[in-house]
Amino acid sequence: MRQTQLKTKSTEIRSFLGEFIRSPISTGSIIPSSRQLAKLMTHTIDENTQNIVEFGPGTGSFTRMIHQKKNKDTRFAVVEINQRFREHIKSLFPDVEVYDSLQPETSGFVGNVDAVVSGLPFSNMKWEDSEDIINSIHGMLAPGGEFKTFLYFHTFQLGKNRVLIDYLRSQFASVNLNFVARNIPPAVVVSAYKKS
Ligand SMILES: C[S@@+](CC[C@H](N)C(=O)[O-])C[C@H]1O[C@@H](n2cnc3c(N)ncnc32)[C@H](O)[C@@H]1O
Repeated sequence: MRQTQLKTKSTEIRSFLGEFIRSPISTGSIIPSSRQLAKLMTHTIDENTQNIVEFGPGTGSFTRMIHQKKNKDTRFAVVEINQRFREHIKSLFPDVEVYDSLQPETSGFVGNVDAVVSGLPFSNMKWEDSEDIINSIHGMLAPGGEFKTFLYFHTFQLGKNRVLIDYLRSQFASVNLNFVARNIPPAVVVSAYKKS
């Protein structure tokens, strides 16, 4: 069992590096997130969480934990721009809905999602694109719903990321920041809660 897990992990690390070499800007990292980061990104998800959407699952660091923790009847969709990552997620989790983009209206995710988890590389995106995605996520969330994303600590002071945090503070009822040292590189988890 442990042998299989290690093999999967090393395959995922190689696959991630390959995708970074092909598309560094959209992949956003050379390796998948650590277990410690994945734990913090998913720690509020449990069997009562209704409707979950994950953006940018990559090789599935967060997907795996969400899948373990959620109720089996909960609708769980991931949105991934990279076709190889989409195929990887489909092969690991056949019951997860996998999209290359998601329109809230046609997907039925409007005001009824309890948790949105994002691995999107906002630091590498144009602000207008980040703003559109955040507005769309806000519309998907149920009252009191949670949006979680992360930024790499060394990029935290960048103007673009300050704009992102300020925008989240202006749109959401509250925003918390938590540092995760055990990730390469260290990260800050941003949790934003929609007004109840
Ligand atoms: C930094 S990686 C995070 C992967 C994974 N969540 C993790 O933490 O290990 C960013 C992921 O977002 C995906 N991505 C980038 N832009 C995207 C977009 N506009 N829509 C969906 N996925 C996107 C990339 O292909 C990549 O899988």
